[in-house]
Amino acid sequence: MNLAALEPRAREIIGRYDEPRAAMLPLLWLAQSHIGHIPPEAERWVGGLLGVAVSHVREVVSFYSMFRTRPAGRHELRVCTSLPCMLRGAENVLAQLEARFHVRPGETTSDGELTLTEVECLCACEIAPAGQLDEQFVGPLDDDTIEAIAGGAIRPPADSPSIVERQPFVSTDGPVISPRFRNVDGTWWDAYVADGGYVAAAKALSSMTPSQVVDEVSKANLRGLGGAGFPTGRKWSFIPKGSPKPKYLVVNADEGEPGTFKDRYILERDPHALLEGMIIAASAIGSHKAYVYIRGEYFRPAERFARAVAEAYERGWLGKNVQGSGFDLDVVIHRGAGAYICGEETALLTSIEGGKGFPKLKPPFPAISGLFQCPTIVNNVETLACVPFILREGADRFAALGTPKQGGTRLFSVCGHVNRPGLYEAPVGITLRELIDRHAQGVRRGHSLKAVIPGGMSAKVLAAEEIDVAMDFDSLLAAGTMAGSGGVIVMDDSASMVEALQSAAKFFAHESCGQCSPCGEGRLQDLDDLLSIARAMEGKTICVFADAAAWPVQSYITKFRAEFEEHITIHGIADCRLQIADCRPIQSAISNQQSAISRSQICRT
Ligand code: FES
Repeated sequence: MNLAALEPRAREIIGRYDEPRAAMLPLLWLAQSHIGHIPPEAERWVGGLLGVAVSHVREVVSFYSMFRTRPAGRHELRVCTSLPCMLRGAENVLAQLEARFHVRPGETTSDGELTLTEVECLCACEIAPAGQLDEQFVGPLDDDTIEAIAGGAIRPPADSPSIVERQPFVSTDGPVISPRFRNVDGTWWDAYVADGGYVAAAKALSSMTPSQVVDEVSKANLRGLGGAGFPTGRKWSFIPKGSPKPKYLVVNADEGEPGTFKDRYILERDPHALLEGMIIAASAIGSHKAYVYIRGEYFRPAERFARAVAEAYERGWLGKNVQGSGFDLDVVIHRGAGAYICGEETALLTSIEGGKGFPKLKPPFPAISGLFQCPTIVNNVETLACVPFILREGADRFAALGTPKQGGTRLFSVCGHVNRPGLYEAPVGITLRELIDRHAQGVRRGHSLKAVIPGGMSAKVLAAEEIDVAMDFDSLLAAGTMAGSGGVIVMDDSASMVEALQSAAKFFAHESCGQCSPCGEGRLQDLDDLLSIARAMEGKTICVFADAAAWPVQSYITKFRAEFEEHITIHGIADCRLQIADCRPIQSAISNQQSAISRSQICRT
């Protein structure tokens, strides 16, 4: 292993960052792509280059699931078993793969060709059951795709969307974002400009003041579409104008909420829309440096976006004196490495700074003290991709597409038991029923709707009779759930709510950052204990992770209690405590919930 040969490249990477330590993840990626894994020598090499202790490098390596400390096969097949994939048969597929390749998850075939890995959501739920062969998404995994993998037939083509198999449905007729998804060549600079691209950025830089841009975005009622729904213009206005510190724009492209796959399509099919939105946002908040944090699993989307960034530098839309306006802007693409918690904004910033993805208590909010303790705005990909439309077509037009408190449309990722899983752009006031029945063409023939998660797996589940609700943030909040990331997971009457909750609990236990420890006590007893534990978690941790783990527990058990009780009853043991102890799905849900708790600090202060 000749790490010295990588040094010029490593120094070039370090030079992109405001603080050397922030180059931690890219240097680890560099070492892993060169060696195949990250041995102790590579940890020492990275630590030496960054001036940090090897123990810290090791900590970071161990935190991110995509970093390997041991050699793997020449190819890696990562198979998702999270809820949307589970609903479409992921567990059978995993068993089939184990039998076909004679390996268990975590093992490599005897010829060293393939490592099989079980993973949580890849955010390719529209092709569930989904997998990823090296850098390429594959799905739905079935007899044909498994044989194609075995025969080495699936290889990424030179330049195509990441999903090359049976194409899922992708809306191309929405008014704001999706029309440009239609043209596969539309990702290039010339095509984007021919469609009116960069007119809005030119307007912002040449004929509007930063506060006029903020006002226009506020008037449009654009809300944060990563999940929080905070008004975007208001967020931008929090940046202190007189601060002598640098200001940063950070783009959260760490899409990881099970059931969600919208940002991937923007990065891959309309990267210049995001970039144009970034230029407008950065000029409005006075930022000259933007970081784009793209989840580790998104190889091709990251490549597409990097190509757009390179084009923008060539055309004078990035770098010094953008289009002669006197405004400077540099963009750094930063790759995650497999950690759902980094989608939480403070964890994401800690991750960019070269640490484990640990959330921080707020306040201070990032707008006051964020990246490198400087004022920082963190915006989601889809949120920023809406901004050019607002400046080009006008705030009133965008606002009119939505509800009185939330303007525009959004991209809904619809998956699970529907006839047509896919990505749908629709006004935010569309009802959940319309989205499922009209757009996704309803549940499978011979089945009836049982339950829906309307905003990614963290959202509280709705029963079939609760879906006449508009999909905007306020309506779903009033209905006792949340709009979240716009990921809609549909379950028909074949779904076991016990297994669904077990899957959700397993996910949150697996993805907990491990920062926290409990100061309360939980007892392994019964359904009421689970509810009590969930209540104890809700609203009592540094970030909303514990809420996200608690809400599914509360809503599933409250709304489908009879099914949970029946599931216990069929094990036929008289004593309630024994019934639960013998009921594997529930026992496992409790133990996962306990594990999530023990890793997420419940501080009853
Ligand atoms: Fe499998 Fe999302 S890709 S659940």
